[in-house]
Amino acid sequence: MCGIVGYVGKQQAAPILLDGLAKLEYRGYDSAGIAVYNEKENKIDIVKAKGRLQALRDLTGDGQSVQGNIGIGHTRWATHGEPSVVNSHPHFNKDKSISIVHNGIIENYQPLKEKMQSRGLEFISQTDTEVVVHMLEHYYSGDPISAIIKVMHRVKGSYALGIMFKEHPGELYAVRKDSPLIVGTSAEGNFIASDVPAILKHTRDVYFIDNLEIAKITENSIEFFNEDREPIEKEMTTVKWDIEAAEKGGYEHFMLKEIYEQPKVVADTITPRIDNGKIVLNELNMSDEEIKGINRIYIIGCGSAYHVGLSAKYMIEETVRIPVDVDLASEFRYRNPIMDSNSLAIIISQSGETADSLAALREIKSRGIKVLGIVNVVGSSIAREADNVLYTWAGPEIAVATTKAYSTQLVACYMLGIHFAKVRGQIDDTQYDEMVNELNALPNKIQRILGDKERIQWFASKYSAAKDVFFIGRGQDYATSMEGSLKLKEISYIHSEAYAAGELKHGSISLIEDGTLSVALATQPALYEKMISNIVEVRSRGSYVFALTTEGNYNMEDTSDFTVYVPKTLPCFSTSLAVIPLQLFGYYVALAKGCDVDKPRNLAKSVTVE
Ligand code: F6R
Repeated sequence: MCGIVGYVGKQQAAPILLDGLAKLEYRGYDSAGIAVYNEKENKIDIVKAKGRLQALRDLTGDGQSVQGNIGIGHTRWATHGEPSVVNSHPHFNKDKSISIVHNGIIENYQPLKEKMQSRGLEFISQTDTEVVVHMLEHYYSGDPISAIIKVMHRVKGSYALGIMFKEHPGELYAVRKDSPLIVGTSAEGNFIASDVPAILKHTRDVYFIDNLEIAKITENSIEFFNEDREPIEKEMTTVKWDIEAAEKGGYEHFMLKEIYEQPKVVADTITPRIDNGKIVLNELNMSDEEIKGINRIYIIGCGSAYHVGLSAKYMIEETVRIPVDVDLASEFRYRNPIMDSNSLAIIISQSGETADSLAALREIKSRGIKVLGIVNVVGSSIAREADNVLYTWAGPEIAVATTKAYSTQLVACYMLGIHFAKVRGQIDDTQYDEMVNELNALPNKIQRILGDKERIQWFASKYSAAKDVFFIGRGQDYATSMEGSLKLKEISYIHSEAYAAGELKHGSISLIEDGTLSVALATQPALYEKMISNIVEVRSRGSYVFALTTEGNYNMEDTSDFTVYVPKTLPCFSTSLAVIPLQLFGYYVALAKGCDVDKPRNLAKSVTVE
C-alpha cells in the first residue's frame, strides 16, 4: 500500500531516500515525503508533496537542498484521508521531535484518537498514522525502544514503521507487524525498506524483520529486539536479484520489460528443478507417501494469483485426478470452509504480503492443514509462515499489473501437477517425459509469440476506443480469459468481463451489440468446435471477434475478424502461451489511450490491507 525507506550513514540521506522511493512507487504514488535530521540546526526537516515523487524531487532539487545523513521517506497510497500534503508522511508530533513513516492500517486509531483529543491534543491530518506519533510522544521518556514497545501493545492492525527521535540523532528505529520491512547493510551505511529494489543500488545484504520485532539502526550497527526487549540474533541473507532487474533497461514501461522477461524467468523457475529429465521439488518436503495421501487440494490467492489457481485446477484435476478447490482469499477467510484434513493448501502470491492471502494461510494452519506457498518475494510473510515454499524466480516485478510473476506461478503449479501425477501413478513414463519436454519448451514458445507483437499492437490501437470488451473461452481458456480481461481493464480502464462461453446464452449475450469487441479463446482441441459455435453466436449479433487459437487452426479465419495464433502445446499448458497476446493487448490498448501503464489509478502493487 505504501513504501517506506530509511537511511543512516556517511552520505547525504535525502537523495538516497528519493532514489529508494522511486523504486517503491509501485506501492503507492499519490504523495510522498521525507524527514531528515539536520545536525547543524538540531532539528528534523520534513518535506512533503502531493502527487508523484517527481513533485518532491522538484521541491528539494532531487534531495540536494535537504541536509543530513539520517532520514526516513514514504510514498503513499491513501487509505485514511485524501491524498494531500497534510495527510502524507512523514508525520510528526507537535514540536517535530519525533517523526514517523507508516505502511499498514491502525485499526483502532479512532478510539485512541478520541482519547487523546479529549486530553486536548490536536490532530492535523485525517490519517490513522498520526495517532502513532502522538502515542510515541506520550510514552517517550528518554528511551525510544520502551516507547515503541508500549505503542506496539496498544495499537491494533498492521504496521511497518520507520521512526526518528530528535534526541537520538544517529539512530533509526523500525518495527513491523503484518506489513513488510527489511533492513539492509553496506559499508556506506544501513537502510530500512519495504522491499528490496529500494536499496538494491547500495546493497544486497539484508535482514528480514519478523512480526513484532524492533530494529535499532545506526551507521555502524544493527540490533534487533523482541517485544520483551530481549535482543535477537538474526542471520543476514544475500538477495540474488541484481540491480538491472529493478531498472527499466531501455523499455518504455516496466510492464513491457516484464512481459519480455517471461521466457527467461519461466526458464529460471523450471530449469533448476529439472535434473536429468526429472522434476525435483525438494522444497516441498513431502514424501511420496504424503503425496499419495492427499485427498484434496485448495488453491487460494487474490486477483491474478487466483486466476493462476483457476488454470491450475484444470491442469491438476485432469492430470493428477485430485479434486482442486480454488478460492479468492478474501472470501475463503470468512466463510468457515469445510476442509478435508488430508489435504494440501497452496497459497499463491507474488508479493507474499497480500493481507487476505496471509489471513487465509493462518486460517488454514490453525486447522492443522499443511500450507505450501508459491511466492516470488524471498523472505516475505507468506514465504515465512507457510510450511514449505516453492519460490518463483521471476525477479522483482515493479509494474502494478502482474505478468511475469503470473507466468512463473503457472509453471510452478504445472511442475507440482506433473510430479504429483507421477508419484500417484496417474501418468506413465512416456506421458511424464512428454510433459517435462513440453514444459521445457514453453520459454521458447513464449519468445516466438513475443516476436509477433506488431500485429497485436496494430489491433490494440484500432480498438483503444472500445467501451466494453468480452473475453470468452471454455475450460482452461475460460481461466485464461479471466486474466486477459483483468489485464485489459486494470490498466486501460475499459470495462471488460470474462464469460464461460457456454454461459453466454444464459444472459450476457444480450449485452452484445453492433461493434462490441469479443476476444474469443479457442486453444482446447476438445472444445474447439463448441467455441466456433459460440463465436458464430456473438458475431451474428454484431460483435467484432478477436480470436486466439493454436497454430494449425487456420479455419478460424472464416469465423473471426482478427486471429492470433499461439504455438501448439499440451492443452493443459495452454494458458502459459495464450496469456501472452492478451498481456500485449492490454498493454498496447492502455498505451494507445495514454494511460499510466505501470501505475494504474487507484491500484497498488502490494495489497497489505484488507
Ligand atoms: C493484477 C495483479 C493483482 C495481484 C493480486 C495478488 O495484475 O497484479 O491482481 O495478482 O493483488 O497479489 P499477490 O500475488 O502479491 O498476492
